[in-house]
Amino acid sequence: MNKHSALTRNRSAAEEQIKKLREQINEHNYRYYVLDDPLVSDAEYDNLFQKLKSLESEFPNLVTPDSPTQRVGAAPLKTFAEVKHAIPMLSLDNAFADQDILDFNKRIQDKLGTDKPIEFCCEPKLDGLAISLRYEHGLLAQASTRGDGTTGEDVTANIKTIPMIPLRLRGQKIPRIIEVRGEVFMSKKGFARLNEQALAAGEKTFANPRNAAAGSVRQLDSQITASRPLEIYVYGVGLVEGCRLPDSHSEILDYLTGLGFRVSSLVKVVSGAEGCLAYYKKMLQKREELLFEIDGVVYKVNSTREQEKLGFVSRAPRWAIAHKFPAEEVNTIIEAVEFQVGRTGALTPVARLKPVHVHGVTVSNATLHNMDEIRRKDIHIGDTVIVRRAGDVIPEVVGVIKQRRPRDAKPISLPRHCPVCHSSIEHIEGEAVARCTGGLFCSAQRKETIKHFASRRAMDIEGLGDKLVEQLVDTGLIASAADVYDLTQAQLEGLERMGKKSAQNLLEQVEKSKSVTFARFLYALGIREVGEATAKSLAMHFKSLQALKAAGEEELQAIPDIGPVVAAHIAHFFHEPHNRDIISKLIKAGIHWEETRESRHQPLAGKTFVITGTLSTMTRDEAKDALEQRGARVSSSVSAKTSYVVVGADPGSKYDKAKELGVTILDDEAFRKFLQKL
Ligand code: IVH
Repeated sequence: MNKHSALTRNRSAAEEQIKKLREQINEHNYRYYVLDDPLVSDAEYDNLFQKLKSLESEFPNLVTPDSPTQRVGAAPLKTFAEVKHAIPMLSLDNAFADQDILDFNKRIQDKLGTDKPIEFCCEPKLDGLAISLRYEHGLLAQASTRGDGTTGEDVTANIKTIPMIPLRLRGQKIPRIIEVRGEVFMSKKGFARLNEQALAAGEKTFANPRNAAAGSVRQLDSQITASRPLEIYVYGVGLVEGCRLPDSHSEILDYLTGLGFRVSSLVKVVSGAEGCLAYYKKMLQKREELLFEIDGVVYKVNSTREQEKLGFVSRAPRWAIAHKFPAEEVNTIIEAVEFQVGRTGALTPVARLKPVHVHGVTVSNATLHNMDEIRRKDIHIGDTVIVRRAGDVIPEVVGVIKQRRPRDAKPISLPRHCPVCHSSIEHIEGEAVARCTGGLFCSAQRKETIKHFASRRAMDIEGLGDKLVEQLVDTGLIASAADVYDLTQAQLEGLERMGKKSAQNLLEQVEKSKSVTFARFLYALGIREVGEATAKSLAMHFKSLQALKAAGEEELQAIPDIGPVVAAHIAHFFHEPHNRDIISKLIKAGIHWEETRESRHQPLAGKTFVITGTLSTMTRDEAKDALEQRGARVSSSVSAKTSYVVVGADPGSKYDKAKELGVTILDDEAFRKFLQKL
């Protein structure tokens, strides 16, 4: 055989192998991103990808633009080219009140001349940016932004870097031309991580996931876009040639899934306006737990024939509407900034705002986190700022509207003395947090220490809430956690707003708290950097207070997860005479615990549990403790690795997920029996 034919044979074998590798990679991508059901590990996937890369570098002529290796690497652009959309990219009318939806439904029924319920396809309204993806003969030919709806920008090189967007369509029914429309966005986690990285690198952060997604797609250098965690859900079709689409929107979405696109699993077909409103309610409840932000839901008349009959008004279809959720971001003015002192002395700047309503709640304070954050966001007193309040989280200042800064706006500076105890403030170079050096001399730190001690996950003293702790410290009745156990009925009754019965109840709760677990007790002490998990490790390792008190930093560091800093905090804490004194007073007052179970009594070691819903005989925390003492891990989300899901009354979506994954489910009673049998 001559050299030439050997090469040809090699080449055709390589061609065959390249084709097979691309098919495998595309299949794995599809299973991973679209079906959320991966077949192979990341390592196996990487292996296939590397093989393809090396074959392609050996045979560069065999590289095609749709190869999975060709997503990144286009040269940076000078500007984006304009793209005229073959079919305009429309917008949606917005609705806010339920009545708007009833009117929308009525208009449709009237226009269609029917009083039968209309079938609607309901979808989440994603908060990102609209993209049109044009495929010619099954290959991604062009990706463009919406622009003004008629003309957008060519962002093909950037969009190609998003792994879940197919470069080549799948399946048999591939149209000659199809424009698929969807929303490119960033998940909440992806956004948080991106901002963390930006912060660490001293770069500008993004105000919200929408800005981050839009900023990432509009990069002239696609290498930058490639490094951003972008995702897509598709929700419609523009131009199609050479193929008849199904007769309903929901079937079109199924067809798009078949072509290889990711469609949200939250899409649901419902009947009439009532169906839409029920969907809205459900999604509003789910909003918090979703992995990405949505700013409402969209209802679309499902039948495409009816859609055609309904047509458009100016720039929006008559057959669809966006039902917006209440805004989470509002504008207001920073009137002052105060510094709060935390349990460990950390100073937190808090903005006092001109009060504003954010869906039903008046917001007048927002956390500014620390001085670095203030500097980075360039916040001044007097500034108009965007404030965000999502769910139950503490309101936060997202950014400043610089154009509205008044001339007399004042910069914010760190006080030199503690606003509560006037001790000096320590701000270690390179650390974000500044601290009051007053220790337990500072009444703010004392209050916070006692609040933490009494809190639910610590000693769990019901009735000893933040307000009461403040009152008790201010009136001089207590100065430390140990003093809580000396409180008397007469003292409590003498307090403002405290009746006889409440005083009695509180004393009962104080008494009850004396029986605790070692881990909870350690957590309650409020040692710096010792959270629940570390407290548990310490309890498990040392088993007795004596042993822990005697431990040196070296011995502490031998415990997994305890590094030099935490070890130093722990050792320092137990060294401090004041702390030793409080601990012995607490023990004298009667605080006790069962010895931590030995590891051989841990029948549930290696098992993972998830608890959802309300249990009838114990609180969720009690169930968690019971499981953890027996060696189990308690997690907050269900996955294929979960061993058991404990289900109480009114369970959440975790129950559905457990059923879907076939995880063993224990109801209230079965769970009780299960624990008894161990
Ligand atoms: S449909 C003809 N569906 O909202 C209808 N849009 O205000 C065109 N959006 O520009 C849009 N989620 O960026 C549609 N499930 C969804 C959507 C959605 C988000 C965005 C999209 C559009 C804007 C309209």
